[in-house]
Amino acid sequence: MESLKTAKRTQVICIILLVGIIISLNTNGVESRKARNSDWFEYSAISCRAHSASLEEFGGVGDGITSNTKAFKAAIDHLSRFQSEGGSQLFVPPGKWLTGSFNLTSHFTLFLHKDAVLLASQDEKEWPVIEPLPSYGRGRDTEGGRYSSLIFGTNLTDVVITGDNGTIDGQGELWWRKFRAGELKYTRPYLIEIMYSQNIQISNLTLINSPSWNVHPVYSSSVIVQGITILAPVTSPNTDGINPDSCTNTRIEDCYIVSGDDCVAVKSGWDQYGIAYGMPTKQLIIRRLTCISPFSAVIALGSEMSGGIQDVRAEDITAIDSESGVRIKTAVGRGGFVKDVYVRRMTMKTMKWAFWITGSYGSHPDNNYDPHALPVIQNINYRDMVAENVTMAARLEGIAGDPFTGICISNVTIELTNKPKKLQWNCTDITGISSGVTPKPCELLPDHEPAKTTECNFPDNRLPVENMEVQMCSYKANYL
Ligand SMILES: *[C@@H]1O[C@H](CO)[C@@H](O)[C@H](O)[C@H]1NC(C)=O
Ligand SMILES: *[C@@H]1O[C@H](CO)[C@@H](O)[C@H](O)[C@H]1NC(C)=O
Ligand SMILES: *[C@@H]1O[C@H](CO)[C@@H](O)[C@H](O)[C@H]1NC(C)=O
Ligand SMILES: *[C@@H]1O[C@H](CO)[C@@H](O)[C@H](O)[C@H]1NC(C)=O
Ligand SMILES: *[C@@H]1O[C@H](CO)[C@@H](O)[C@H](O)[C@H]1NC(C)=O
Ligand SMILES: *[C@@H]1O[C@H](CO)[C@@H](O)[C@H](O)[C@H]1NC(C)=O
Ligand SMILES: *[C@@H]1O[C@H](CO)[C@@H](O)[C@H](O)[C@H]1NC(C)=O
Repeated sequence: MESLKTAKRTQVICIILLVGIIISLNTNGVESRKARNSDWFEYSAISCRAHSASLEEFGGVGDGITSNTKAFKAAIDHLSRFQSEGGSQLFVPPGKWLTGSFNLTSHFTLFLHKDAVLLASQDEKEWPVIEPLPSYGRGRDTEGGRYSSLIFGTNLTDVVITGDNGTIDGQGELWWRKFRAGELKYTRPYLIEIMYSQNIQISNLTLINSPSWNVHPVYSSSVIVQGITILAPVTSPNTDGINPDSCTNTRIEDCYIVSGDDCVAVKSGWDQYGIAYGMPTKQLIIRRLTCISPFSAVIALGSEMSGGIQDVRAEDITAIDSESGVRIKTAVGRGGFVKDVYVRRMTMKTMKWAFWITGSYGSHPDNNYDPHALPVIQNINYRDMVAENVTMAARLEGIAGDPFTGICISNVTIELTNKPKKLQWNCTDITGISSGVTPKPCELLPDHEPAKTTECNFPDNRLPVENMEVQMCSYKANYL
């Protein structure tokens, strides 16, 4: 009798517990369904899409261990069918999505949720080897091929890579170690490379620990890169931030970059290969950039500039603890040109050099470069800048017999460190003018009319890339 009572009581307790569990499970269920149904995303983009799908619908697993290379491929292959039906979007939900390289399609948006992390695979088999760039003749790290970038697109139009500050983690450590040890058979991959394409937007993402360069638009036009945070250890090799390369009409804005190489490096091919390819980078805007690069430049032009660089406009740049502010890098054998460069409103703090021009950069793809291929460097304008804690104001080195001309520096105040170099301006093989610059520039940059202030030029016409329009897009994202 007594034992029967106990058994009954136990039964009752069990039922109550069970009901409790079921209720709580149900509540969870309702809640997750609710979250699933009510997750709306809004963002601005060059195009909105008619179709949207989530990576999970294609077998994606966000556990940080399972490879999603096939899921990305399946998803994008499927979504590429909607190119002419209003385009498509692939949504990457919260989670850690391990993946090798994958290819994008046209009229397509990749959207990373704020808690989504793309983790780059460390398995070399997950990275197809592709041909070197024709304007470089070889890979940058090794001769021959190169690993395709994590996110790769070629011959595309109308592509958006964005998110509400989702993360792309290159897990570069292994690549840096292999690079330093000379163990790589091919050139390291980049995080994002877009080639032979137009109407591209890369925005609102955080890129960390890239194996090498972070963002590389090449042979493309009408490209906007905005609201990107790029982080890599300042000692990591070649982790350049954004490298527009043989591109026309590019706009880089509102980016924050801390890296082991140049924050923005403007390029256009390497020696005889770049000269033969002949595709310049032109009509480039860089604005509202914050950069920390203790061993490199805030904005570098070159060293690969053999296809030419023309009409670069940079403004409202903040440099902290960087080696140099604007740096032009070139060499005998490069050919090409760097001309019509305009930089204004740059604030620098703790710099080795505010300005640096190097005409003897060296670094050739092979020994077949033309020693008569001399670069033309002209019409370089820097104005309205303040710098503090600077070791040396400027090192401006042209090429003997090939002077760099039309260098104009105005309204620039450089305060020095307590251990400054004795020689503040070291100028060779350059010509130009200055006005209102302290400390006093070299004799090759005379202050022509002390009575009248010269203002170095900054164009006031609009470039076509400023007219690229964005619209608000909103989606309901379904995910588990
Ligand atoms: C991406 O496209 C390139 C060029 O068409 C190709 O070589 C590469 O194998 C593709 N990558 C993947 C992961 O399919
Ligand atoms: C991509 O575009 C380039 C340059 O226009 C062209 O040479 C190449 O054949 C194109 N590739 C494909 C796969 O269409
Ligand atoms: C994006 O995330 C990075 C890294 O967490 C952070 O530093 C940055 O401030 C974030 N940007 C925005 C706009 O929230
Ligand atoms: C994206 O970044 C821009 C700044 O470039 C900012 O104005 C905008 O609010 C951001 N959008 C989202 C969805 O985070
Ligand atoms: C000189 O540059 C500073 C910024 O460094 C700016 O505030 C000021 O207006 C400039 N002066 C002239 C005359 O343009
Ligand atoms: C000034 O620059 C030196 C390096 O030249 C650095 O060690 C020091 O911390 C900087 N000081 C300030 C106040 O930033
Ligand atoms: C000045 O620059 C020239 C050319 O780069 C270099 O040879 C020379 O050593 C430099 N002088 C000083 C004092 O730094």
